[in-house]
Amino acid sequence: MSKEVKNVEYGLEKIFEGAKDFLPLLGTDYVEFYVGNAKQSAHYYKTAFGFQSLAYAGLETGLKDRVSYVLKQDKIRIVLTTALKSSSPIGEHVKKHGDGVKVIALWVEDARKSFEETTKRGAKPFMEPTVEKDEFGEVVRSGIYTYGETVHMFVERKNYKGTFLPGFKEWKSDYNPTPVGLKFIDHMVGNVGWGEMNATVKWYEEVMGFVNFLSFDDKQITTEYSALMSKVMSNGNGRIKFPINEPAEGKKKSQIEEYIDFYESQGVQHLALATDDIIKTVNELKARGVEFLPPPPQAYYDEIPKRLGTHRDMMKEDIKELQKLSILVDADEEGYLLQIFTKPVEDRPTLFYEIIQRMGAKGFGAGNFKALFESIEREQAKRGTL
Ligand code: FE2
Repeated sequence: MSKEVKNVEYGLEKIFEGAKDFLPLLGTDYVEFYVGNAKQSAHYYKTAFGFQSLAYAGLETGLKDRVSYVLKQDKIRIVLTTALKSSSPIGEHVKKHGDGVKVIALWVEDARKSFEETTKRGAKPFMEPTVEKDEFGEVVRSGIYTYGETVHMFVERKNYKGTFLPGFKEWKSDYNPTPVGLKFIDHMVGNVGWGEMNATVKWYEEVMGFVNFLSFDDKQITTEYSALMSKVMSNGNGRIKFPINEPAEGKKKSQIEEYIDFYESQGVQHLALATDDIIKTVNELKARGVEFLPPPPQAYYDEIPKRLGTHRDMMKEDIKELQKLSILVDADEEGYLLQIFTKPVEDRPTLFYEIIQRMGAKGFGAGNFKALFESIEREQAKRGTL
């Protein structure tokens, strides 16, 4: 059973009882990136992150304006899309933002109703409900804009048996690197501009029926140089979690501001991918060339037993081994978690990944924020953007 389902069993439904059920979400359906060269990006995600070839659409399947590669690892599905002509919204998107997340697609029972309920509450439409069909059945999709140019697509696939979506063909490849143990998307974080966080939180509450179940102010997320604020939004069953970050005043430039300068708008900052063996997963990722943020100082690892508190005995991992891999550790009342962050995966300092293993903890590593942000600031200083 997946961890996101277990959340409900742990009693999180109490926290989410304020959430409204006009938009029942079954899970994340896929995440679509608009990129400069989908063929090469697909090779990177296969080689470095262990994704598997799943489906393809392009000139060979009758498309004229774009190419999309779909990759999969356990429950995670990503789509990499490139424009074939400069005069397309996809080409424009890449020109402005560089490679980045365009669509966070949510799996729903009823895509028409999802569109109706959210647009009635003020969502800006991206795509009217659209039925797509092939010999495997039909899929209904609709979409709305969220922060920046990012989109939530609603996907209703109960009458579909094909590989991915109508119009895609199965992608069989002779090159199949093994998976690295990534299981599902734990959370996806959005960066918004100065003064925009509360409006975004309100949007998720009113338009999507989400609840704000955790908040961190700039006193909690601060280093000597910079600060940020963060609020975590969740849907009613706790399967979809979207932390929202806003920069805060500090002596130097916030990493959120750096992101917005280079993405040239609000957008997705990181995807947290869950594993149940972070040591094995991170060893694999490193061997395949994925670059992670540098480790925190020795003092950080010396303090881990204290931070674990009563969960100290349940920790199976060896602290020395975690330190060797730069993995961070945090704990809350319910357990502990292990996490690590990659460097940005494109040339602009924008999107990066988190690898996370939850051992009961429900938080987002608040105890690691300081160490993490100091690592990010050391990277920002190298880029001249601190
Ligand atoms: Fe995260």
